[in-house]
Amino acid sequence: MPRHFVAPSILAADFSQLNGAIEIINESEADYVHVDVMDGVFVPNITFGMLVVEGVKKIAKKPLDVHLMIVQPEKYVEAFQKAGADIITVHYEACPHLHRVLQMIKDSGAKAGVAINPHTNVELLEDVLEDLDQVIVMSVNPGFGGQKFIYRTIPKVRKLKNMIIQRNTGTLIEIDGGVGLHNAEAILQAGADILVAGSSVFKAKDPQKMISDLKAIGQDKGSFV
Ligand code: DX5
Ligand code: ZN
Repeated sequence: MPRHFVAPSILAADFSQLNGAIEIINESEADYVHVDVMDGVFVPNITFGMLVVEGVKKIAKKPLDVHLMIVQPEKYVEAFQKAGADIITVHYEACPHLHRVLQMIKDSGAKAGVAINPHTNVELLEDVLEDLDQVIVMSVNPGFGGQKFIYRTIPKVRKLKNMIIQRNTGTLIEIDGGVGLHNAEAILQAGADILVAGSSVFKAKDPQKMISDLKAIGQDKGSFV
């Protein structure tokens, strides 16, 4: 299996120790910090906005992968990029003018992603695939950490991977929700490139070891020769 990436989600961290959570990620094998922004309208939960993203950026040593679960994300794209977002992902379901929003993200200097809810068909991305650095395939209904992985997501990943290979767009597939050691291998085999992991990392006894274990899945352990 090709090398994959791990993006721990700070949503599952202890917010009174946010600094500590970022330190854990900094000193781990993680590739990104996944930051979940929720507005209480697009999803039934509220988390934080750009001021917190700005604070996280000051201490994070890994790129910020900012997942906007908000309506009218076009209003805030520039502000999140200025706050330190390296990748900005908006929801397909929140964007009637998706193509325009993606161009705004790129013009801001960030990488552009689209997230799709569990009920959204990957084929709907066909006409924007060339504009996408990543697609977040939601494997839970967005809004909360700690939910159960929806297995129907795996064939979606496979289908999307085929679309990306056929069109040769280089788009990365990120899977978000309910990911852990029990399902990561199947997800990667289906073609995912990035594993978001919230609870499985931050509720683990040793979060850094969990990150290494998630990174090690499917990797060649080396030969004795
Ligand atoms: C869900 C968020 C996820 C969440 C994942 O709405 O987008 O990023 O933090 O958390 P776990 O890994 O606990 O499902
Ligand atoms: Zn997320």
